[in-house]
Amino acid sequence: MNGNQDAAAVLQKETYLLGRHFKESARLHLQHWLWKSQTGWNIHPSINIPSTLGEGETYRIADQGAGNCAWILEVADELPSGIKPHTKLYGFDVSLANFPAADNCSPEVHFAQLNAFDDVPENLTGIFDIVHIRVFSAVVRNNDSSPLIKNAARMLKPGGWLQWDEFNSASFKAISPNAGVSSKWAQKMTEVMMKNANVLTFNPSWIANLDQQFKENGFENVQFDKTTWAPKLRKPITDDMLMMTESVVVLTKRDGKLIGTEENFDEIWAHALEEISKGVSLTMDPVVCVGQKPACG
Ligand SMILES: C[S@@+](CC[C@H](N)C(=O)[O-])C[C@H]1O[C@@H](n2cnc3c(N)ncnc32)[C@H](O)[C@@H]1O
Repeated sequence: MNGNQDAAAVLQKETYLLGRHFKESARLHLQHWLWKSQTGWNIHPSINIPSTLGEGETYRIADQGAGNCAWILEVADELPSGIKPHTKLYGFDVSLANFPAADNCSPEVHFAQLNAFDDVPENLTGIFDIVHIRVFSAVVRNNDSSPLIKNAARMLKPGGWLQWDEFNSASFKAISPNAGVSSKWAQKMTEVMMKNANVLTFNPSWIANLDQQFKENGFENVQFDKTTWAPKLRKPITDDMLMMTESVVVLTKRDGKLIGTEENFDEIWAHALEEISKGVSLTMDPVVCVGQKPACG
């Protein structure tokens, strides 16, 4: 088989490359807490959550591809007490594998299976105040986020907000703690991983233009925050990146090489881990895009 046939075979068998085993859920918890440490919030500050609601009103928030629902559960805890009894929060995912037991969670939170690419069901159309998507670079294919943005727009009420938090995987790189420590192999590892991602049709160039895609799909008041991880978070984000790499490699290594690449991955990995033990970090920049569905139309 050549690289393209191998890639097609992997994608046919496994449409989601990171897996849903307990280590992946643990990685998502770590990642969630890192995201909160980095930004200081779960809901972007430009989205105003009301402290009271009118008679009979319900405030609804949806998390698409919620994974283990860490984000929506924390959002439930942070809601103003005046609206909490009148809110409905939904964690949606194509797989139920990592949903927590509903009995252990706040009564406002509901979990349901939903494919974010499918037509939005009638009962979920036009009812949400906020739709949230986070870390979908292993979900978006062929460089096109617009089907997901369009579906989010369908789910939102007029005036509702879409918040999309993403790792800009195009920025995957190694950083030395100082000029005395080489990051050559760790850097090589990030480059080989990105080559592999491209062959598997996970081209990340859509991420840098997320704001344009919001605007092209009719969103207003679009704000795009591009940041880099705080140096104090580089160690845990490196652990997160290593776990993510391991999950992908399990599915995409053939004869010691990642599909679509020529280098011996085991050798690169061993040298990269050595450099990382000397303080080299792996990072991928966090970006957040928010936009509002027009109040009329
Ligand atoms: C990297 S995880 C991120 C989970 C969560 N958003 C977070 O930030 O912790 C991506 C999630 O998307 C889900 N997913 C993959 N394909 C999907 C699809 N077509 N529709 C909905 N969810 C999907 C996966 O099951 C996984 O839980």
